[in-house]
Amino acid sequence: MATIEQWLEALLHFCEEIPQHKDQLNQLDSAIGDGDHGSNMTRGVQAVKDKLDTSSYSELTDLFKDIGMTLVSKVGGASGPLYGSAFISMAKTATESSDPTALMAAGLEGIKKRGRAEPGEKTMIDVWQPLVDKLHAGQLTQEAVSEAFQNTKEMKASKGRASYLGDRSIGHLDPGAQSSAYLFDCLMKAGVLNE
Ligand SMILES: Nc1ncnc2c1ncn2[C@@H]1O[C@H](COP(=O)(O)OP(=O)(O)O)[C@@H](O)[C@H]1O
Ligand SMILES: [Mg+2]
Repeated sequence: MATIEQWLEALLHFCEEIPQHKDQLNQLDSAIGDGDHGSNMTRGVQAVKDKLDTSSYSELTDLFKDIGMTLVSKVGGASGPLYGSAFISMAKTATESSDPTALMAAGLEGIKKRGRAEPGEKTMIDVWQPLVDKLHAGQLTQEAVSEAFQNTKEMKASKGRASYLGDRSIGHLDPGAQSSAYLFDCLMKAGVLNE
């Protein structure tokens, strides 16, 4: 079972990865949205990093709660409340379980509830859902992460800003799916989620 140190390592790594991919995430969002996903997420993870750097945690629930609250309050745009809901939902589940699969499944439920979206609507859920399924099956791999992200390309958006484009959203990768793929990558690299 992953330790709190591993979770911290993974999440701090995510806070570094996002700003490094800010332009790429903005570009993905320019094609089917308003071009701010990288900027939104960068603002959020920089605030998260400040919070983590000045706090110490002995319980996962407190770590996730701080991340969730920070993302909700600092990120404008749809992605802040969505990622925030994921971490707040993980914080609730962490009071009962520290199983990474159960925690990621709780994160997925938080996103679904907040965004009222289901798989196949070309959102971050299209990374979270198949990868949580893989976790349950004990089959999460790097390939599964990139495959889930790539699969958003041919989907037609029916939630979020990209849905305004209708059929013209087809052929573009979803920005929130990309940032979520980075999150899963970081969790795998730190050994929180096992390949
Ligand atoms: N209802 C929803 N459920 C799940 N994810 C969503 C939903 N609406 C949007 N998203 C995700 O949010 C991303 C856009 O985030 P962002 O650009 O930061 O916010 P905004 O759309 O407000 O500009 C999309 O790429 C998609 O993955
Ligand atoms: Mg946007």
